[in-house]
Amino acid sequence: MSSKKRLGVGFIGSGFITKFHLQSWLAVRDADVLGIWSPNAAHAAETAALARSLGVGEARAYASITDMVADPAIDALWLCGPNHRRVENLEEIVAALKSGHGRLVGVACEKPLARNVAEARRCVELIAQAGVLHAYLEDQIFVPTIARGREVAWKRGAATSGRPYLARAAEEHSGPHMPWFWQGHLQGGGVLNDMMCHSVEVARFYLTEPGAPRDSIRIKKVTGHIHSLKWSRPEYARDLTARMGAEVDYTQRPSEDFARATIEFADTAGRPLIAEVTTSWSYVGAGLRLSTELLGPEYSFAHNSLDAGGRLFFSRKVAGPSGEDLVEKQNAEQGLMPVVGNEVAEYGYEAENRHFVRCFLAGRQPELDFHAGLEVVELLMAAYMSAEQERTLAWKPADLEKFVPAVARGTWKP
Ligand SMILES: NC(=O)c1ccc[n+]([C@@H]2O[C@H](COP(=O)([O-])OP(=O)(O)OC[C@H]3O[C@@H](n4cnc5c(N)ncnc54)[C@H](O)[C@@H]3O)[C@@H](O)[C@H]2O)c1
Repeated sequence: MSSKKRLGVGFIGSGFITKFHLQSWLAVRDADVLGIWSPNAAHAAETAALARSLGVGEARAYASITDMVADPAIDALWLCGPNHRRVENLEEIVAALKSGHGRLVGVACEKPLARNVAEARRCVELIAQAGVLHAYLEDQIFVPTIARGREVAWKRGAATSGRPYLARAAEEHSGPHMPWFWQGHLQGGGVLNDMMCHSVEVARFYLTEPGAPRDSIRIKKVTGHIHSLKWSRPEYARDLTARMGAEVDYTQRPSEDFARATIEFADTAGRPLIAEVTTSWSYVGAGLRLSTELLGPEYSFAHNSLDAGGRLFFSRKVAGPSGEDLVEKQNAEQGLMPVVGNEVAEYGYEAENRHFVRCFLAGRQPELDFHAGLEVVELLMAAYMSAEQERTLAWKPADLEKFVPAVARGTWKP
């Protein structure tokens, strides 16, 4: 049990998601952001300055992960580097701890836990060697409307008419911001690996009775589909290379920009439950759209992050630079645009970070941990395997451990 009243947190990675976390920290009362490490020292210094300017902690840049672990002020790390650096980042953390360089209470890791099952299993082994608490950072189950809708649907609807049986979850936008996301061998796949990790957890969250353990619903079958709908078209492949660099060549090495999966579960009574999840990098709307549904015998719940309430209208005479001041992955600056008032709350980051900070401070192992992250990776890999084999797979496919999607091997031909 930790006796500390405040948690000192260090971030590995100083990019897009770290900046989201820093903003969310305004709503985290019992932790301070004290460190940032990134291989690019200037970026680490900039992001540390951002933390200080937000007033979320006296953050400073560190020269290495080992140095950050060694500082007694740092109690926990938020692992926010790119997917292809996950295992080596964790190896450095564990080596620092084993060599007595410092002590940590916990490590929280961004999604996906790793690029494939073998790497995810390695992450689980490493965190066990570290002997610290661990968290898998899935923000979307902390989206306030999703959490509240699920709670009330179960409390009223399920209590009077029976448990829900169908959950739908979709995450869609027009494509990621950095080149490595588009490269299958670095990221681990395409949109399925990048975004379906969220949708499968939201669907599971909806279908799981509040208070019941994760394994109270059991996976039975997985069916997946992947396609390249937009970005391997010659004109869009050219556009992608022009923006992301020569390494991103979708005429030669495409990743899927559309993926869907049906996951069949059974509850403790053996009744069937269905999760339908779909993700895409080929959706052009106002910006990032998270849409989810939960259906039961006499009730249904629906949520859409772009139905945020506020609407701003700009006439055709309002012309200005592109930006993301209305919504993440914004596609336009004219016409009727949704305004998402507080994105860090609406996407779940505030409640997510509050939850894991409190678990770590209390010395309590969160249920959403590296094992959960591994199971998510297993589901995603099964969806790729099903898509490649064009058939439904019974859970758990025997050869999942060594499976690497064709997209990640650079051999996928859409
Ligand atoms: N929860 C979400 O919705 C969400 C959203 C975006 C990204 N993510 C995840 O967060 C992670 C980071 O994504 P991002 O969008 O911030 O990417 P990014 O490319 O914007 O930032 C990555 C950061 O990692 C740093 N980095 C480079 N090499 C590194 C190394 N060897 N070790 C550690 N860090 C290194 C880079 O300097 C950069 O600061 C990814 O795993 C991604 O899947 C999650």
